[in-house]
Amino acid sequence: MAFNDLFLRAARLESIERTPVWMMRQAGRYMSEYRAIREKHGFLEMCYNPELAVEVSMQPVDLVGVDAAIMFSDILVVFPGMGLDLEFKSGVGPIINNPVRTMADIQKLGLSDPIDDTGYVMETIKILRHELENKVPLIGFAGAPFTLASYAVEGRGTRDYENCKALMWGDPVAWDSLMNKFTETVIAYLCAQIDAGAQVVQMFDSWVGYVAPRDYERFVLPYSQRVLAAVKAHGDKVVPDGGVPVIHFANGATSMLDLVQKAGGDIVGVDWRLDMKKAVELIDPKFGIQGNIDPVALFAPDAALEEMVVEILEAVGTRPGHIFNLGHGIHKTSDPEKARTMIRLVHEHSERIRAGV
Ligand code: CP3
Repeated sequence: MAFNDLFLRAARLESIERTPVWMMRQAGRYMSEYRAIREKHGFLEMCYNPELAVEVSMQPVDLVGVDAAIMFSDILVVFPGMGLDLEFKSGVGPIINNPVRTMADIQKLGLSDPIDDTGYVMETIKILRHELENKVPLIGFAGAPFTLASYAVEGRGTRDYENCKALMWGDPVAWDSLMNKFTETVIAYLCAQIDAGAQVVQMFDSWVGYVAPRDYERFVLPYSQRVLAAVKAHGDKVVPDGGVPVIHFANGATSMLDLVQKAGGDIVGVDWRLDMKKAVELIDPKFGIQGNIDPVALFAPDAALEEMVVEILEAVGTRPGHIFNLGHGIHKTSDPEKARTMIRLVHEHSERIRAGV
């Protein structure tokens, strides 16, 4: 089989005959093949074991037909190296047993060394590149400083972020120190992933949609900006021929897309809360766009799913740089067959639209 470079060409804003598709959280619980492995191993154990991580990363490529692979891991794996005691509790999700709430707590945090602390991720990437040689490109990823900080301060996923915001407003110096530690850690982590062979990287700011624009501008944007600029510069050095495209996904933040664009990167990820027609108007043509069908569209009948796919593709038209994705992660009860149908529909209709028929 010939290497499918659609995704890489789209990410570099080059011309494409068909729109590439991948799905956030594509390596996961909606697949019975994932669940079969997960039954025998803990989630973090799978992240720490390159052989298992490679196996589940390959599943959506081989069985669902996505146009890119994403390494199987988690944004929180940088925590142990920094001194944060991470655990995944079934039915609850990630828990940090020693959350940071004060300057004294923050001063005790170290930086995660990408090789000493997360060398298994680099190993996973190296093996994946080998496995993917004649298939599709590989995406690396990290959490954004804000989303990581929110877990470190709250100690678990929340909806309100009261501890996090109390720290941000109450002790801006401590907040700056915490965000600097995550910024440095994420820069080193993503640069090491590029060195190991990641061909595109995505920064997930999953919970930034809970922050008001005024706070985003002051307490989040400068740090995201630093990560995206440093990683982009590193990619340009390592891959002089085209660089390593950087995707910035700020979930729930489409009401402040002006600020999100100021953060930089090459491709702006949009969730499903914004109509693609508006996204195309609001996002500067120098950026590619990733998104943005409602993840729950995979529960719709085929005809309704097709209508939603076509609406998005027609809104984008022939604009370069579109990567089709769900507006957020695939739900764990989704039917893989529906995902295959969605991918087929994106390919068929985008080929027609991009050919101008
Ligand atoms: O996209 C992919 O397929 C790659 C794998 C991936 C996972 N997590 C695997 C995973 C990626 C990119 C992530 C990133 C991640 N992790 C994010 C950002 C992405 C997003 O959705 O915005 C966040 C916020 C996390 C933290 C995290 N990890 C949460 C909130 C959960 C869910 C907890 C739950 O049980 O519902 C996880 C666990 C997780 N990460 C699973 C997978 C496959 C499920 C774990 C299991 O098998 O039990």
